[in-house]
Amino acid sequence: MRDKIITYLKKVVPRNTEINVTVPEKETFGHYSTNVAFQLAEHLGKTPVSVAEDIISHLRQKAPEEFFKKIEVVPPGFINFWIHDKALLSNLNHLLKKTSQWGKSDIGRGKTVRVEYFQPNVAKIPHVGHLRSAVIGDALKRMFITEGYTVVSDTHIGDWGTQFGILIYGYKSLSEQEKDEVKQNPVEKLNQLYIDETRLIEDDPERRKKAKEEFAKLERGDKENREIWQWMVDVSMEKFREIISQLNLLPFEKHRSESAYEDLMPEIVELSLRKKVAKKTDDGAVVVDLLDYGLDEAVLTKSDGASTYLLRDLATLKYWQRELDFWKNLYVVDVRQLHHFKQLFKVSELLGLKGVNESEHIEFGFMSLSEGAMSTRKGSVISLQSVLDDVVARAREVIQEKNPDLENADEVAKEVGIGALKYFDLSHHRKSNIIFNREEALSFEGDTGPYIQYTNARFLSILRKIGKTPNKMSEGETLDDTERLLLVALLRFPEVIESALEKRTPNTLAFYLHNLSQKANEFYHSHPVMQEESTGKKAFRVALARALSITFTSGLSLLGISAPKQM
Ligand code: ARG
Repeated sequence: MRDKIITYLKKVVPRNTEINVTVPEKETFGHYSTNVAFQLAEHLGKTPVSVAEDIISHLRQKAPEEFFKKIEVVPPGFINFWIHDKALLSNLNHLLKKTSQWGKSDIGRGKTVRVEYFQPNVAKIPHVGHLRSAVIGDALKRMFITEGYTVVSDTHIGDWGTQFGILIYGYKSLSEQEKDEVKQNPVEKLNQLYIDETRLIEDDPERRKKAKEEFAKLERGDKENREIWQWMVDVSMEKFREIISQLNLLPFEKHRSESAYEDLMPEIVELSLRKKVAKKTDDGAVVVDLLDYGLDEAVLTKSDGASTYLLRDLATLKYWQRELDFWKNLYVVDVRQLHHFKQLFKVSELLGLKGVNESEHIEFGFMSLSEGAMSTRKGSVISLQSVLDDVVARAREVIQEKNPDLENADEVAKEVGIGALKYFDLSHHRKSNIIFNREEALSFEGDTGPYIQYTNARFLSILRKIGKTPNKMSEGETLDDTERLLLVALLRFPEVIESALEKRTPNTLAFYLHNLSQKANEFYHSHPVMQEESTGKKAFRVALARALSITFTSGLSLLGISAPKQM
């Protein structure tokens, strides 16, 4: 609808006028509204109101007769539009024909986006902090795909750095029996080993030196160290893949890790010294002075020659730019790394690396758990696995209470539990810090995932009872206000995806789906579908029910959330 309004407006305003069509907060200001008259007024030396009046008199001739029901100029110069019922109904038919293709577009055809998210670290337990990156990144990927972009998702696994010296040293110092114990439950034990060993080297410089040497040996390719390291990578990947599947994330195109860019690192260091972007300090470190940009000093290699996280990211950018010729390169990483990414982009720019202007840090705030939830684990880092287990178990109880006869209750509990967690995350602006409240997130009322899932299931149940339904209906039906507003909202779906993606804010879509659920439930309670006597009305309401289920299912799926048929 918005696209059409823009098309008609384009026919009546001078070329190159920027046209914004928005959705007013209240329906009394129209289904859509534009402020285009304000921009033109200045140029034309007229008042916005008179420009607006000119625009609408021409617009009436350019748009088909039954497209606008009403166009109104409101001082100081807004133009508000109401869409004609016939146009709404004709678009409803279009929606029904598209079914699962509804909402898709080809805006992104020919463009490739690299999205990097859910970057776990080898030998560390994935924790709640990793959840947001996974969930936000996955939703963005889904939206990009729906708009026709080619997406290459990557995890950029943290498998390199001095911490591996500490781990290898710690591991080698264990007795055979202790090593066996580690092998029983590797990721958790390695996680602990790192904590213990870090404590030990803190007051033992000799031990610290040895740990550093182990990393240097690893970087030089020492066989034994490489083998131990490879084993750590393998066991971590196994756990990691398990979580990807539990979270129902789209498969990743790549799991390239930090170590994969080893070869490119010396080149970057050389280049930066040659271009005098970096200098060698007295103790042999290579650093870039970014004080002029308010970004401190950036270290590329440490005094012992070890690579830094920053250097690995520079090498990564160089690699991907060469490999992919991406249109955008997105890093979904928490806000603590803001400084890191500023440094990365600045150094890349100084080095003349390509792809900097296309790169973006998609930052997000913290998620913590509300008091009471999982209190037994208070104090230590909360593993992602335990959060997933907990929310699914609780969803199972909720379902047991609400619908004890549900057949595939275990399956639905997963869909509802994981869906609730994801929705909770995605319904907040990614930059906000959020506190996950399990009970709130699992409620069937309010701004929650289960509320939307439940609304959808309601309409699916009507459709099941009705059986086969025609996928076209008369365009001459008269609509009441509830029906009309619901339909206008439904038809906005593609526009919402577009703006959610543009701002990289999945919460734009979540907000829309919540709002649509509220309108749908209002309709559900006040408008009988099956008992409706007029055949025409009944057909329209069935069509609405179908359109709703199509939109909810696709919308949830764009957020990575399943839409159970019953719950
Ligand atoms: N693995 C890192 C961490 O957990 C995040 C990696 C972010 N991505 C990047 N290209 N630096 O801190």
